[in-house]
Amino acid sequence: MTLAARLGGAALEQAARDRLGPAEADAFLARLDQLSFDITEPLEQVYGAAAGDGGSLIAGLIMDALDAAARRPAALRMLDRRREIDPAWFQRSRMIGYVCYADRFAGSLAGLRGRLDYLAELGVSYLHLMPLLRPRAGDSDGGYAVTDYDAVDPRLGTMAELEELAADLHARGMALCIDLVLNHTAAEHPWARQAQAGDPACKDMYLIYPDRAGPDEYERTLPEVFPDNAPGSFTEVPGLGWVWTTFHRYQWDLNWASPSVLRAMLGVMLTLANRGVDVLRLDAAPFLWKRKGTDCQNQPEAHLIVQALRALTRLAAPGLLLKAEAIVGPDQLVQYVGGHDRYRPECDLAYDNQLMVMLWSTLATRDARLAGHALSRRRPVPPATAWVTYVRCHDDIGWAVTDTDAAAVGLDGYAHRRFLSEFYAGRFPGSFARGALFQDNPATGDARISGTAAALCGIEAALGAGDRAGLAAAVRRLVSLYAVAFSFGGIPLIYMGDELGIRNDHSWSRDPAQAGDNRWMHRPRMDWAAAARRHDPSALEGQVFGALAALSRARRGLLALRSGGQTEVIPTGHRSVLAFRRAHPRSAPFLSLTNFSDTAVTVDAEVIARAGLNQARLVHGTEPGTALWADRVQLPAWGFAWLAGR
Ligand code: GLC
Ligand code: GLC
Repeated sequence: MTLAARLGGAALEQAARDRLGPAEADAFLARLDQLSFDITEPLEQVYGAAAGDGGSLIAGLIMDALDAAARRPAALRMLDRRREIDPAWFQRSRMIGYVCYADRFAGSLAGLRGRLDYLAELGVSYLHLMPLLRPRAGDSDGGYAVTDYDAVDPRLGTMAELEELAADLHARGMALCIDLVLNHTAAEHPWARQAQAGDPACKDMYLIYPDRAGPDEYERTLPEVFPDNAPGSFTEVPGLGWVWTTFHRYQWDLNWASPSVLRAMLGVMLTLANRGVDVLRLDAAPFLWKRKGTDCQNQPEAHLIVQALRALTRLAAPGLLLKAEAIVGPDQLVQYVGGHDRYRPECDLAYDNQLMVMLWSTLATRDARLAGHALSRRRPVPPATAWVTYVRCHDDIGWAVTDTDAAAVGLDGYAHRRFLSEFYAGRFPGSFARGALFQDNPATGDARISGTAAALCGIEAALGAGDRAGLAAAVRRLVSLYAVAFSFGGIPLIYMGDELGIRNDHSWSRDPAQAGDNRWMHRPRMDWAAAARRHDPSALEGQVFGALAALSRARRGLLALRSGGQTEVIPTGHRSVLAFRRAHPRSAPFLSLTNFSDTAVTVDAEVIARAGLNQARLVHGTEPGTALWADRVQLPAWGFAWLAGR
């Protein structure tokens, strides 16, 4: 029996035909049929009897999806059709991402529409805009405390302008990604306000405890996300009790055990999809489900909920993708793209946090063995999904290096993580980095790092010291990190400003809204005067921009860099060289070699042979200095080479 039949049979089919017309109804019902297991299985596991045939939860969710399908604009249905025909649309090598704050980049959404040529120059086909839905007034954790999911932050523009921007992007073959904060709302969201006013239905949407007994029990095993400026995970709200607040006191965690939260958030997702959003970044996805005696991250129910959300949104908006923001340990990561005991479709995309951490670790140690070991032992990403590969983002860098991986290459995990923090804070003797410690926790010894990529790579220090050779080396470090992100497999993401080598923004500490949070040092405003030098090869900006644009052009022509293929780390016999091979069933293999050292290295032909490249040719590399001879490849200091077989 089909799900449509189980859930109302002829009545649902009739409703679909009435609302959608015969052709769209047929497509909707076919999707329902195909997704039925992905909808029912997780929901029955999380919500039990309430979800099942007898309960009305699933039927209600499907009717919500049907409503959204009926409202979906014709232009977006056409995009859906194309993406259903070509489900690998986001896996192509032409996918290149850019992430920015609309206001910091272009003033507003309207301003952004005037900057798309700039993005096109970099080959961007995927634009991620940082939180833009209406936040609370005052401090909002950079927009991650939302009071209205159906309105744009008035400082940025309107929902109509967001729709216009999406249409402009689509006309250029670009996709739009925005943040969806689904773990918590602002304390000023109407649900939270009504909860405070005593409305029992709204109280049930949050996690509220009458006294400290529950919170104390949870806190025995709960790590703190912001030990410095937001200690603890609960906040006392007069008249209400203790409210679960994982992040800041004004960010109230939602109670995902309540079906009304699920239903409300599905509604939000479907509405945003109908505005033209192509990708939803699911903020803090690992935190959705809490369980006593655990760290309340990565719980099975959090995965099941995301799986159900994916299947349900597909009914109405099959072109929509979900991207997990799961900054978790290496062993927990692949599950967010569905890599469980079997493939359970979950997010289509997830941040490759581990690759990012390994890049910075390798840059500091000039030794690629830890990266090689850790990256080669992980489970491959499911073929229908992709990583988002990146060098920097708006958050701090947390050292996701396991003790086991460290020990395998003779390092002590704790000491190595501590070294990385010291190195990037610029405290380690000889360090070229100019970052800062974030949430240094003396109780656990944990610390994370803030700072722009340019500051962490040495550009800031070299400019400050007027050191020309140091600057050239620093630029190469930055470009080589990006060369890995562009070739490792997945969608590479350029963090705004990195393409121009923008340094730390030191004004944050003077702004009362930012002073408590040094992540603002790496969230600078776009410097359009610097951008104007992007075509000048003698300027820093011209060198970095030119190199990133060249990576983007080279990548687009390489079938092996499509997602869906495999990445395999190849040993080279050189400590400082990270080598990996990309293979895609439809292309000749590809080999990337990156030298994390301040002296040149020659890699011999045996390595190329081991990677299975026949008649290898050099497709791209650091200019000048990279060369391929019959029996060896020369990599300059901090340089890289991309080779392709025939
Ligand atoms: C995410 C964001 C981070 C924010 C947190 C709470 O992880 O990336 O900036 O502080 O969620 O919403
Ligand atoms: C931690 C959390 C992540 C959050 C970040 C904020 O890494 O795991 O979700 O965004 O802290 O800086």
